[in-house]
Order: sequence, then C-alpha cells, then structure tokens
Amino acid sequence: MKKTTIKELLNTPELIGTEVEAKGWVRTRRGNKHVQFIQLNDGSTSQNIQLVLDMTRFSDSQLKPVTTGSSIRVKGKLVESLGKGQHCEVQADELEVYGTADPTSYPLQKKGHTLEYLREIAHLRPRTNSFGSVLRIRSALAFAIHKYFQERGFFYLNTPLITASDAEGAGAMFQVTTLDMDNPPRNDEGKPDYSKDFFGKHTSLTVSGQLEGELGATALGRIYTFGPTFRAENSNTPRHLAEFWMIEPEMAFFDIKDNMDLAEDFLKYCIRYALDTCSTDIAFLEERFDKGLTERLRFVISSDFVRLSYTEGVEILKASGKKFEFPVEWGIDLQSEHERYLVEEHFKRPVILTDYPKDIKAFYMKQNEDGKTVRAMDVLFPSIGEIIGGSEREADYDKLLGRIEELNIPMKDMWWYLDTRRFGTVPHSGFGLGFERLVLFVTGMTNIRDVIPFPRTPGKAEF
Ligand code: 4AD
Ligand code: MG
Repeated sequence: MKKTTIKELLNTPELIGTEVEAKGWVRTRRGNKHVQFIQLNDGSTSQNIQLVLDMTRFSDSQLKPVTTGSSIRVKGKLVESLGKGQHCEVQADELEVYGTADPTSYPLQKKGHTLEYLREIAHLRPRTNSFGSVLRIRSALAFAIHKYFQERGFFYLNTPLITASDAEGAGAMFQVTTLDMDNPPRNDEGKPDYSKDFFGKHTSLTVSGQLEGELGATALGRIYTFGPTFRAENSNTPRHLAEFWMIEPEMAFFDIKDNMDLAEDFLKYCIRYALDTCSTDIAFLEERFDKGLTERLRFVISSDFVRLSYTEGVEILKASGKKFEFPVEWGIDLQSEHERYLVEEHFKRPVILTDYPKDIKAFYMKQNEDGKTVRAMDVLFPSIGEIIGGSEREADYDKLLGRIEELNIPMKDMWWYLDTRRFGTVPHSGFGLGFERLVLFVTGMTNIRDVIPFPRTPGKAEF
C-alpha cells in the first residue's frame, strides 16, 4: 500500500472511497461502547484525522492501550465525514498499536501546558500542536531562504564552524580544544600551550561566517551562508541564544543602498512565502497566542521600510520625551527599548537604521567621510528589534588595516582577510539575518527559546 501522510489523506479527494492506512500518535480518544473516535496526528500537518471504530469489530482490550500519546496504525476506508470540523475520516477495519504511552507518566497527557513548562520537556514538546506548527513554519522558511537566493544567482557557501579568528571582535566565543584542560601542556608563561592543541593554535566556534563569506563573494560574486553560529554572551533575554542560525549573503559590487534593497526584498519574500505555504499553521498560532499575527505579517510585506541614519534616529529618541531605562546620547549602542520605540511607536513600520558611530560597530565596515560613522545598516522589526545587521565593507586596504591596528586586532588572525583588499579589491556589502528572529516574527512567538527545537542558553544544553 502506498505510504500516505495524514496531510495527504486530508487533502487528496481522489482517495475518498479507497482503502488507506493512517499512522501516527493518538491525540485523543472518546466515544462509547458502540463507537470510538480517535484523533490521530502524524506531524505532517497541524490537523488530525478522525478514525471511527465500530466496536462490533474491536474489543475493549484492543482499545485499552490506545491512550493520548500512544502510536498506532489503522487501516480502513477513507470516507466523507458528516461530523463537524473535518471533511473526511477513516472507518477502521484494522488496528495495530506500535507503542503505548502510560497516562500516569506521559507528560503531554493533558492539554494546555505553559510554554515555560514545555521548555523543561523540550525533548517531547515537538509533539504538541504549537511546536508542530512552529517547526513546520521554521522548515518552510529555511526552504524559502535557499529558494530566494538560488533563484537570484547566489551560491550557497559553507563557511567553517571552527575558527582561529574572532569575526565580530565581540570576544564572546566558545573555545574548541582537545587538550586535557585538567593538565594541559604549558608554555614558558605557565599558560596552556595551544601550539600542542589539535590545530596547533587556539580555536573557537565561529560567531559569524562573514569573513570567509567575503572570500567567497570576491570570487563567485554573490554568495550566501546558512549555518549555525555560536556566541557565549551571557545574555538571558527572549531574543538571544548561545547557538543560533544565521543567513549571511555577501555581494561583490553592492553598495549600502543595494544591500538595503536586498534585505528588504528578501525579508518580505520570506514572510510572503510563509503566508502562502503555512496558512494552517499560522492560523493555528494566531488563534492560540497572537490574534494580530496575520495582520502584522501582511502589514510588513506591504509597507516600505523607513530608512534613516543613526544620528537622525538618536534625535527622534531624544525629542520623544520618553523615559528610557538606558538614556540616549549620540554614540550609545541602541538598546532594544530604543529600537522598538522607533519602530512601534514613532514610525509604526520596519526601520533600516544606517551610518552608526564607528566605535560601536565592527572593524570591517566602510568608513564614512566624516571620520566618525561607518556604513552600517540594521533592520529593526516590530516586537523583535534588530533582525538584520549588515554593512557595506571597507574595501580600501590602508583604511581597513588602520582600523585593525587601532583596535589591536592581531595580524596573525587577519592577513588572509586583508588579501581580499590587496588583490583585486571591490566595493562589496552583506548582512546577517538571525534565523530564529525571523521565525519569532513569523510565528508570533515571544521567546526565542520557543522557535528552535533544542535551545542552547546559559546553563541549558541537556537535550
Ligand atoms: O549583528 P550581527 O552580530 O552581525 C554579524 O554577525 C555580521 N557578521 C553579519 C554580516 O554582516 N554578515 O548578527 C546578525 C544577526 C542579528 O541582527 C540578529 O538577528 C542575529 O544575527 N543574532 C542573534 N540571534 C540570536 N541569538 C543571538 N545571540 C544573536 N546575535 C545576533
Ligand atoms: Mg548587530
């Protein structure tokens, strides 16, 4: 018999009247001694299929292990349903139980657990309706991202996860070593001797694939990366993870304007793709958590993003008369409260903020004539804050070297990167989209821990 998912059973009219098999996990069972109804879900869609069991053909003992969470196979005829809420159902002839789920110990026996509690059982929460929807939307968005770039001549470049350089200069990296840290070989200063380590040097997990992405873009023209990144910042916020996925396009011959146009078009494409292909899941999350979800998504794809400079942004914030937790002065790194004020209260639509003070941005950004700012661009979203960070890159060898020296970045880490500016340098730009922040926005969830299957945050890496 052809393998069919529940999604296919529910959406293929030609299957009505034929013998089918449904396999999945039992969501609920109810009924009486004459007839039993099972709601079955296999993860292919948020919708369940109803199984109808005529109890003249089944015994009570056969049905006893069929409790919430148990896994079963049912064979029977797919028929149009007279009941409310479903258009077809299976009239079961055959029932097989794969595995039971003891109702006294199965954590998802009851509905309506809090998201906080579900985080404690992250190994099982994908079986809930909410996480099923989030994970299906996440998967669709990942596909949309590849589709967007592939259809526009960008090449998918895999950049290394283990690195000897600190791309963002953020200094919050996870060390990678095979040395016995209880008893490491030591150098003359008594410090661990990393020349004896696996790579012959000190290495860490990457915080960004950008620097290697630039090597790709200055060879292939347009590339994008899509991979995990790791940051050991101890920030316990609803928007930070220690392990998150980032998409980093990098384009030769793009200036900051081209970069902004791409970022805006790309974000709108992804959101539209989710609306077009995940309507059932979005509708489910809208109903359960966030009544304004679809409207917000539609609003963002139909509005032009505001573009303004950091300096103008700071003026607006100062003139707002609003009391911020972190006072606003030119030169500060904007906090989420500032970003959200601009987006949610002042402009009421996404904002691309450009030309930040150079001291709060990374060394590789193109320096402006004023000597004070760099050609950075952050895309700020409602309810999220920063969703994208990017810039035009400094293409001038001397200026870039000057900045590296000013910031005391060791040349042993940077010589290969500088070679892109020594040999055939070109104007180029790129940005990084935090994948989980996009998933947060599209699903309407409010905590980033709820949009990645297995979140890594300070103190949490069990499953
Ligand atoms: O602004 P960031 O630090 O920029 C870079 O890493 C650049 N190399 C990107 C580039 O130009 N190629 O990070 C980019 C985005 C942020 O805007 C945010 O969406 C996300 O990555 N991000 C995080 N997401 C989850 N948890 C964290 N700890 C994050 N840190 C950054
Ligand atoms: Mg940033």
